[in-house]
Amino acid sequence: MLDIKITKTTAPKEKPKGNLGFGRIFTDHMFVMDYTQGVGWHDPRIVPYQDLTLSPAAMVFHYGQEMFEGLKAYKGDDGANYLFRPDMNAKRTNDTNDRLCIPRVPEEDYVQAVKAIVSVDQDWIPTAPGTSLYIRPFIIATEPFLGVDVSQTFQFIIILSPSGAYYESGLEPVGIWIEDDYVRAVRGGMGFAKTGGNYAASLAAQVKAHDDGYSQVLWLDGVERKYIEEVGAMNIFFKIDGKVVTPMLNGSILPGITRNSVLQLCRDWGLPTEERKISVEELIQAQKEGKLEEVFGTGTAAVISPVGKLRYKDDVMVIGNGEIGPLSQKLYDTVTGIQLGRLEDKFGWRVRV
Ligand code: PLP
Ligand code: COI
Repeated sequence: MLDIKITKTTAPKEKPKGNLGFGRIFTDHMFVMDYTQGVGWHDPRIVPYQDLTLSPAAMVFHYGQEMFEGLKAYKGDDGANYLFRPDMNAKRTNDTNDRLCIPRVPEEDYVQAVKAIVSVDQDWIPTAPGTSLYIRPFIIATEPFLGVDVSQTFQFIIILSPSGAYYESGLEPVGIWIEDDYVRAVRGGMGFAKTGGNYAASLAAQVKAHDDGYSQVLWLDGVERKYIEEVGAMNIFFKIDGKVVTPMLNGSILPGITRNSVLQLCRDWGLPTEERKISVEELIQAQKEGKLEEVFGTGTAAVISPVGKLRYKDDVMVIGNGEIGPLSQKLYDTVTGIQLGRLEDKFGWRVRV
């Protein structure tokens, strides 16, 4: 149990009005905790939202020893504040930390810290449809040292951002670019971890995709460049000939919490599901035969995002009729219904703050 010291701001900011966008507005406070080798995690505190003071030699700036997470707080219809499966973010944090030689954070402390900062800034949880308070926990290596080594000191910080839909198009299907040149990650690398380097590696392809009018990049495996992996900020699902199919977790893709929830829901509904290798050729063939029924991405920020177009080299696969498909819609309604306290929480995913 952390003993969190709270210092409230004396200059609260005005709450935003109108379209929130994603990730540009920040609340009044942040959570901070320090780590020192030999001492452990110490000084958990909530302080006014502020800039950081770090040495320019801090190791995070040079060798990228850092990690981040993403989850959301929702204002339920009953007025209570809810989180969605925060224990999974705590577990995934420690999987990432193990890969990056960042010290583990006890899972109960992690969830306690998230609840504490959300409680302090609970008036910032937006209530318009499709909005929520995006929570960004992250850990950075702070030791001033230019040798390539494990930092002796770290900071764990949580900031909050009232946000709307991740894609400007909301629930309108997005176009996705299947990247055939750059790769994001390989097995044995950091693909399964939530660390900035994976996202830095994705930018050049994303710029290319955007220039061509596509919203995001869909990555292929880094070895054969044949099998579907995941999208820049979400996992990917296909409904092929009545089956719900998604790439298996293979070490190079992020084990998404929304992905896991969607698989559990589909199984609960009696839909056949498969976690396996899916080649681009299989998709092209399925689309030619009229069997590629729906494509959607899953993620905390993206929720359930329908995909209307997939481009691979000279092939452009158009999926559906420009509207969200029935399975994607049902999943969106169910996931958000559970998150907002509108639907029965059969799996025990909703956590009261
Ligand atoms: N894949 C990537 C690369 C992501 O950044 C995200 C977002 O967190 C996801 C998948 C989806 O994961 P989750 O459902 O846990 O948010
Ligand atoms: C999330 O969905 O929480 C993410 O981390 C995606 C992010 C890269 C915007």
